[in-house]
Amino acid sequence: MERRGWLSRQNQYSHSDRVSLHDIVSDVAEELAPLAMAAGVKLITDIRVQQSLEVMGNEQQLYRLLTNLVTNGIQYTAADGKVNLTLDRYQQEALIAIQDTGIGIAPMQQTRIFDRFYRVNSDRSRITGGFGLGLPIAAAIAQAHQGSIHLQSQPGKGTTFTIRLPLKRR
Ligand SMILES: Nc1ncnc2c1ncn2[C@@H]1O[C@H](COP(=O)(O)OP(=O)(O)OP(=O)(O)O)[C@@H](O)[C@H]1O
Ligand SMILES: [Mg+2]
Repeated sequence: MERRGWLSRQNQYSHSDRVSLHDIVSDVAEELAPLAMAAGVKLITDIRVQQSLEVMGNEQQLYRLLTNLVTNGIQYTAADGKVNLTLDRYQQEALIAIQDTGIGIAPMQQTRIFDRFYRVNSDRSRITGGFGLGLPIAAAIAQAHQGSIHLQSQPGKGTTFTIRLPLKRR
């Protein structure tokens, strides 16, 4: 990541809170349900852990991180498709997966989509008309929380973004 002026300022001035990932995941699913419905896409939440998962960080930013990825999942999936939002835990990390059955991303583009203003030149992205900022912002937020975003995709089949965030130590 080259520059992240806005984000590093956010981190500088905002203190770190305990943030519940269960709350964020359910809030994001609730907020984006109308968008999914309008697109004819089924948005399914799957919380695979009973205990609460907490990370230290900024709730608004983490909310935005998830919103950006789930919005993409909905926007780049045709009607009758699905977006699965999964919350799980592996050792000392929370895993949040956003899996869609959408248009997918070709291998050549998979590294570039995290660049600012980069958009794959497809019919679908022309329709949605975004700025190409959702993913760079998401990546910067994950990094600011010592986490990462990993992507797996097959053109025509779908895409899975996996966010890993270190859990708050007990
Ligand atoms: N789940 C996905 N499936 C297929 N393509 C995707 C997916 N997520 C992102 N992309 C591709 O990556 C590009 C960059 O995504 P990004 O979220 O950064 O920008 P955007 O969605 O085009 O605009 P913005 O998020 O700023 O409104 C998209 O234009 C699209 O081509
Ligand atoms: Mg986007």
